[in-house]
Amino acid sequence: MKNVLVIGSTGQIGSELTRELRKRYGNDSIIAGYIKGAEPKGELKESGPSAEADVTNPEMIANIVKKYNVDTIYNLAALLSVVAEKKPQLAWKIGIDGLWNILEVARENNCAVFTPSSIGSFGPSTPHVQTPQDTVQRPCTIYGVSKVTTELLSDYYFKKYGVDTRSVRFPGLISYVTPPGGGTTDYAVDIYYSAVRGEKFVCPIKKGTLMDMMYMPDGLHAAISLMEADPTRLVHRNGFNIASMSFDPDEIFQAIKRHKPNFEMEYDVDMLKQGIADSWPDSLDDSCARAEWDWKPQYDLESMTVDMLKNLEAKLK
Ligand code: SER
Repeated sequence: MKNVLVIGSTGQIGSELTRELRKRYGNDSIIAGYIKGAEPKGELKESGPSAEADVTNPEMIANIVKKYNVDTIYNLAALLSVVAEKKPQLAWKIGIDGLWNILEVARENNCAVFTPSSIGSFGPSTPHVQTPQDTVQRPCTIYGVSKVTTELLSDYYFKKYGVDTRSVRFPGLISYVTPPGGGTTDYAVDIYYSAVRGEKFVCPIKKGTLMDMMYMPDGLHAAISLMEADPTRLVHRNGFNIASMSFDPDEIFQAIKRHKPNFEMEYDVDMLKQGIADSWPDSLDDSCARAEWDWKPQYDLESMTVDMLKNLEAKLK
């Protein structure tokens, strides 16, 4: 990776990934791509180049790639699961028509491409416990349909044209920096904000609903180390199961309560979110990622909770 374009650099993953890439590869070689209305601000804006990069406009993407001699694209433009259910055509336009544009630019300019997949690429007929790398993928959300298509189209561009496409299936990502918008796993971020504000948390997901989750530093590490991995070791490409923790609402509540004994939670189940959560795996088997590119997470529920509470307390002071 010499020159990198991060599309969606002000979003949930992009805002932190751009900073991390600038730390590792130098500020000037990481271009923060954004769409109108979501321009970079503050440190993200000041620390390096930025450019409007709308995935629905292939010429715009091609111009940035040529201008900055880009060799790697992190394509993070997407709608999360709950928002996508409300705007399915837009989810497809951004996720798939957009991906097609990126892959064509990558083919013409010899770029590597990372496009996240998700636990949402699985569905009710997938084995739910220790979900294997290669298994049934019949999701029942448009988010999932677009993620399976992302994996297939990315593999197709690798096989047919040799475009260096790679991806991981992200679990719910938890961070204190940029709040997520419209995901099924967002409750596991919101709960920390309530705890630090001293408010009772109203949980939209039923007790006993297990989902895979990950602390953002591990998610960033996964995205970067997969793109740096030796291609001759990769049996799979799009997308790798990665895992670090799996819990239900009560387990995260108890983990927080150990540090905040007065914290309270009640349930008010959101049927749309619950339906999506029920269709997703309880836990993933990430042995292929471990074997093919040495994936190894650092955080578990306890160490993430300590770090989230410490950082949110400083942020919300
Ligand atoms: N965090 C995502 C969502 O809830 C899952 O990949 O939509």
